[in-house]
Amino acid sequence: MSWLTQTLSSSIGKKLIMALTGLFLCTFLVVHVIGNLQLFKSDEGLAFNTYTVFMSTNPVIRTISYGLYAFILLHAFDGFYLVYKNRQARGKVGYATVNNQSTWASRNMGLLGTILLVYIVVHMGDFWYEYKFGYIPFKKYTIDLAQGNVIRTEDMPGSYTLSGKIAETMDEASLTKTVIVKDLYVQAEASFSNPLLVLFYVLGMVALSFHLVHGFRSGVQTLGANHPKYNSLFNFLGVWVFAILIPAAFAAMPIYFYFRYLMQ
Ligand code: HEM
Repeated sequence: MSWLTQTLSSSIGKKLIMALTGLFLCTFLVVHVIGNLQLFKSDEGLAFNTYTVFMSTNPVIRTISYGLYAFILLHAFDGFYLVYKNRQARGKVGYATVNNQSTWASRNMGLLGTILLVYIVVHMGDFWYEYKFGYIPFKKYTIDLAQGNVIRTEDMPGSYTLSGKIAETMDEASLTKTVIVKDLYVQAEASFSNPLLVLFYVLGMVALSFHLVHGFRSGVQTLGANHPKYNSLFNFLGVWVFAILIPAAFAAMPIYFYFRYLMQ
């Protein structure tokens, strides 16, 4: 066992941990952004609210979530450690050794990661904490089963409670389904009507973009995937998917809600 702890606490081991945890966090972002796209559906938040119930109650997802929290912390702690060690090493040999070909993002991974850590803490306080421990009201949706669309919504009184987060009932006679569910969608509407929070989310996504444009490629390389046949695929994923598409899709969510709020 000692070879394992020795390897993991060496600089190479720490780079390996950064790569593995970082690429796991990239996978999380893909799932998270796809799930959150439900926010754009024009169904008064039904798809988003039922998706959130699934994510917060499914035992497999819950277990993966605990791994996710641990990986975020591990990635952050190891990141701080590596930045500290690099600074020390650079201090000894002077700044002349800074690679001229290095990009701004690669030189500022510590700063970008710190911004993202602050972003995640604020964001989890806003959604995750509120959903688990705060007050989130319930909403009742009536769905026309023949058409498959929401025909009526009703905000439940503040005193309304359920033993779980969702309750569904069918009415065979009128061919309708009633869903009563915790309305986290209303929390998104409230948060993203605040221009400062919208700006914070958008700047967070700029930091995510710069972090991933270097981070994804670097993580893949640390794991040894450096083959001429696949390099263009990894470059494509790093730039177009992780540094552009995903941050842009996340940033579009607060912007969409903010403009909807302005136009009300
Ligand atoms: C505007 C875009 C975003 C929206 C609307 C959003 C929404 C949400 C919601 C509703 C939850 C709670 C879900 C639950 O409790 O199961 C959540 C959790 C979380 N979000 Fe986001 N999110 C966004 C962007 C991001 C980004 C960019 C990151 C990372 C950099 C992130 C990291 C997390 C984490 C780590 C959790 C906790 C996940 C868990 O408990 O399994 N989110 N987000």
